[in-house]
Amino acid sequence: MSHERMTHLLNKQRSFLPPEHGKTSAWISGADEYEAICQQALADPQDFWNARASLLLHWFKRWDKVLEEDSVNHKYRWFTGGKLNASFNCIDRHLISGRRNKAALIWQGEDEMAKRCYTYQMLYTEVCRMAHALSSLHIRKGDHVALYMPMIPELVIAMLACARIGAVHTAIFSGYAEGGVRSRIQDAKARVVITADAAIRAGKLKPLKANLDPILEKCPSVAHVVVVRHAGLDNIHMQGRRDIWWHDLIDDFTLNADYPCEAMDANDPLFLLHTSGSTGKPTGILHSTGGYLTYAAHTTQWCFDMRDDDVYWCTADMGWITGHTYGVYGPLALGATTIMFEGVPTYPKPDRYWRIVENFRVNILYTSPTVIRSLMREGEAWTERYERDSLRILATVGEPINPEAWQWFHKHIGREELPIVDTWWQTETGGVMISPMAYATKLKPGSASRPMPGIDAAVLPSPDNANPDLDNRVCETGTGGHLVIRKPWPGMMLGVFNNEEKYRSYFTRFGCYESGDGAVQDEDGYFWILGRIDDSINVSGHRLSTVEIEAVLTSAAEVAEAAVVGMPHALKGEAIYAYVCLCSDVPWSEELRVRLRDMVRRDIGPLASPERIQFVEAMPKTTSGKIIRRILRKIASGTADELGDVTSLANPQVIPGIVDGHANLLDGLAENTPRQETSDGAEG
Ligand code: WT7
Repeated sequence: MSHERMTHLLNKQRSFLPPEHGKTSAWISGADEYEAICQQALADPQDFWNARASLLLHWFKRWDKVLEEDSVNHKYRWFTGGKLNASFNCIDRHLISGRRNKAALIWQGEDEMAKRCYTYQMLYTEVCRMAHALSSLHIRKGDHVALYMPMIPELVIAMLACARIGAVHTAIFSGYAEGGVRSRIQDAKARVVITADAAIRAGKLKPLKANLDPILEKCPSVAHVVVVRHAGLDNIHMQGRRDIWWHDLIDDFTLNADYPCEAMDANDPLFLLHTSGSTGKPTGILHSTGGYLTYAAHTTQWCFDMRDDDVYWCTADMGWITGHTYGVYGPLALGATTIMFEGVPTYPKPDRYWRIVENFRVNILYTSPTVIRSLMREGEAWTERYERDSLRILATVGEPINPEAWQWFHKHIGREELPIVDTWWQTETGGVMISPMAYATKLKPGSASRPMPGIDAAVLPSPDNANPDLDNRVCETGTGGHLVIRKPWPGMMLGVFNNEEKYRSYFTRFGCYESGDGAVQDEDGYFWILGRIDDSINVSGHRLSTVEIEAVLTSAAEVAEAAVVGMPHALKGEAIYAYVCLCSDVPWSEELRVRLRDMVRRDIGPLASPERIQFVEAMPKTTSGKIIRRILRKIASGTADELGDVTSLANPQVIPGIVDGHANLLDGLAENTPRQETSDGAEG
């Protein structure tokens, strides 16, 4: 998408001023204040973060040093010597600040009638019970607990219970299938897995516990499985001493439901969360207790201008980083009310979101461009029948928002006056890095605007090995390059679990944190994100690894080689396009195409399911035998006329066949002539 998107967006710039109404009481009340804070924060970052951490969190013991920096190994330790507990900060302290009976968590089930509300006091009681229960299973500080759970309050309770006793939770998105779940549990070496009988999604049940059973045969670290009875699925097989029902487990701890918090070091890990890396194996990102929580609270307050009486709804699944930071830790640390919705936007009808907005009088709505596009397609009639006046701030995350979706969101949901806060960040960054401040930033649709105060973002050209002196220059305005962050910040990952080399790889190319995204800055210093530079694909705002998908495809006996690239997709932003080269005696068939797609769906999850699979005679390769994905990407996105000079390929003669095959596939025909009829079987 990169070059095209860049010119398209830069040419069509139109800007929107922040709303006047509400400005004076905002946390950051205008452009001047933003500029002043940015200057101050970059001039003395330690002083800035020192003040934010003191103000936003309760510490059992104050830190000795704001930042300990090992710049050779790129290890950054924030608030060293400080002691705190995330569960205490998200619950206990609110009990004595007048918020005891305030709604902390409001849950809306997929069934319209299923609703639950936890006050801070109620959340306290449930979290203490679960913390106690986990301790009774011999879970201690530093142990790993995997959460393979649907969007139900028990997920939040489990996260906070782990945090309370110092166990490290590792959430696994309930939409993942066998391979994705197995590799994450194995990598984390989880001692306990918490799950549910089933997840409910668009009227269908997904049997999580039954899916888990065969996986656990290959996960020797798991001693216990705790199962929430959620969907009322019958015949759940509970294995002897290993499996325990959640309700039975906590039943022993109904009385005397106070459980103490473990005093954690600021740099003890709070959680582990895997993201799709550029290798086949998921990358386990570790986040700290002190730095992460400071950054979660800080960004929640400033990006969304979160106020004490706000009802706030982040629509992301809590199995993703967005759900961790902006569904749970950020809002609860600030003592806000956070909404959790189990269902999908369009089931049973495309009015679910607006019904929730009206029912709970939502003030701040944080969602994704994919959701907006899917609702936009259904038409405004669905939104207009609900009251939306409570909305004060709109926000998006996960992928660039296209101008059409922005306009629709602004007009039909935002009454043409609400700010749309487009937040750029990553699993590794812990919280938002580049984003408008709701009441301070002039908005340009499609740009995440400028860095948060204290964040030193820059666009750099590829390193020039011949001329290393030039390496610190930034790209000129309007020129695309690599988006990097030059100074450490408290939310940055603590490390990559069990993979030091992977951690280091984020810093090797530029000597500072490399995001893996391309970006361009315009003349106002606004950042325009151009998408991933590495081999990952952003499908509906979820990062997927091409290598992981290729590995599943090539595991089929019929497949000789596979290459996966992204293609533009109207709804999902990007979709998966797989090129498959079969072993020499295997004929191309629809049946095989269906089977391959199904393998990916079953192994990684429906999200990774290829939109198109194209059979090819051979892959375009370099003389050293590497598949040239750049060419495949162009063909998949219908821009084969921009291939340029391909004469340096080892086998340029394969290109026309691939281009024709692509065209035929789009026309619903089989790719070109079946291979049995090609006499020469050309291979370069
Ligand atoms: C990648 C991170 C952190 C939230 C969810 C995804 C893309 C994220 C934006 C945005 C353009 C964005 C980037 C980034 N991305 N937000 N506002 N505009 N692109 O987390 O799975 O770690 O993926 O999502 O490509 O690198 P993630």
